[in-house]
Amino acid sequence: MTKLLLRALAGETLPTPPIWMMRQAGRYLPEYRATRAQAGDFLSLCYTPDLAAEVTLQPIRRFGFDAAILFADILLVPQALGADLWFVTGEGPRLSTVTSATEVARLKPADQVHDRLAPVYETVRILSRELPQETALIGFAGAPWTVATYMVAGRGTPDQGPAHALKDQDRETFTALIDRITDATILYLSAQIEAGAEAVKLFDSWAGSLKGRDFDDFAIAPARRIIAALKQRHPHVPIIAFPREAGERYVGFARATGADCVALDNSVSAEWAARHVQVDGCVQGNLDPRHMVTGGPDLVAEAQRITRALRGGPHIFNLGHGITPDANPDNVSAMIEAVRSA
Ligand code: CP3
Repeated sequence: MTKLLLRALAGETLPTPPIWMMRQAGRYLPEYRATRAQAGDFLSLCYTPDLAAEVTLQPIRRFGFDAAILFADILLVPQALGADLWFVTGEGPRLSTVTSATEVARLKPADQVHDRLAPVYETVRILSRELPQETALIGFAGAPWTVATYMVAGRGTPDQGPAHALKDQDRETFTALIDRITDATILYLSAQIEAGAEAVKLFDSWAGSLKGRDFDDFAIAPARRIIAALKQRHPHVPIIAFPREAGERYVGFARATGADCVALDNSVSAEWAARHVQVDGCVQGNLDPRHMVTGGPDLVAEAQRITRALRGGPHIFNLGHGITPDANPDNVSAMIEAVRSA
C-alpha cells in the first residue's frame, strides 16, 4: 500500500487528504523543548542524528501525521559552504556575510558540502528505519533565493533589502552566489534521497519579494535547475515547491519549474487555488497558523473549508506557514479531527 502522502504527490485525488504541518517538530511541544535542552543548542540538535531523529518522530507519535519532515535547518547549507552560523536566543540566525565577488569565490566548492552535512544524512537513515510504515519521510532544503537573503544580510531581514541591493548593483556576483547555492542544494537533496527521503521540499520563504524578471531569474530558474537535476538522478521522487507569498505567480509555477506539488501560503484562498493552481497538479496548504494558537470553532470551520475547496483534486493538508511556539497542541488534534471529518 502506497503511503497517502505519496499518492497525493503522484496526482491522486483522495477522499481525505494526507496531513502534516510545517515546523511540526518545534517549541510548541514540551517533548521538543526537553530534547532541545538535552542537546544544548539548536545547531547541536540539528547535527546530532539520534536527537534530530527523536524530535522528528515526536509529532508523529503524538498526532499520527501522514508525513515526517527531517529535522534540520535551511541555514546548514550556507554553513557547509563555509559561512559562520550561530543562533542568538530570542532573535534568530546570524551568519558571516557574503557580499562581494571575492567572498563568493572563497565559498567552498559545492561538492565539499557533504563533509559538514553527513550527520543530516545519518538522521535520514535513522528515520527511514524507525518511522511507521504508513508515514512518508520528507527531506528539504532552502531555495537559493531565500538562502542567499540570509547569506548576504548575515541575518533575517523584514524586506530582504541587502540581497535586493546586491542583485540590483552587481547582478553577476549575485548570480554566482545563487549558482553556488543551487549546485550545493542539488547535491544535498540527492544525498538525502539516497539516505531514504521519499519526497523533498524546497522552501522559498522570501519568494514573494521577487517581482517580474527577478522572480523568473531567482525563484523559477534555480528551482527548475534543481528539480531537473533531481529528476534525472531520482525520477520517482516527488518534489514540493514553496514559493511563499508568490501571489499570482503561483499560477503556472509547477509547470515552469517541474515541481510535483506547490505549497500555498495563507494569503491566497483555497477556492482561488483550486481554480488556478490545482489545475496543474497537487497543492499543499493552507490554514493560517494563528488558528493553532486561537483554536475553537473558527479553526474547525477554516480547516473544513480548505479541505472541501481542494477536494476536487490532489491535496495535502498543511498550514500556510510554520506553527508558532505559542500554539496549543490540543488545537493540532482538533485540526486533524476537523480535516478527517470534513
Ligand atoms: O518543518 C520542520 O519541522 C522541519 C525543520 C525546519 C526548521 N527550520 C527547524 C527550526 C525547517 C523545514 C526549517 C526551515 C527554515 N529555517 C526556513 C524556511 C521556512 C520558514 O519558516 O520560512 C527558514 C527561513 C529557516 C531559518 C531559521 N531557522 C530561522 C529564521 C530561525 C529562527 C526563528 C525561530 O523560529 O526561532 C530558525 C530556527 C529554527 N529552525 C527552529 C526550528 C524548530 C527554532 C529553533 C529553536 O528550537 O530555538
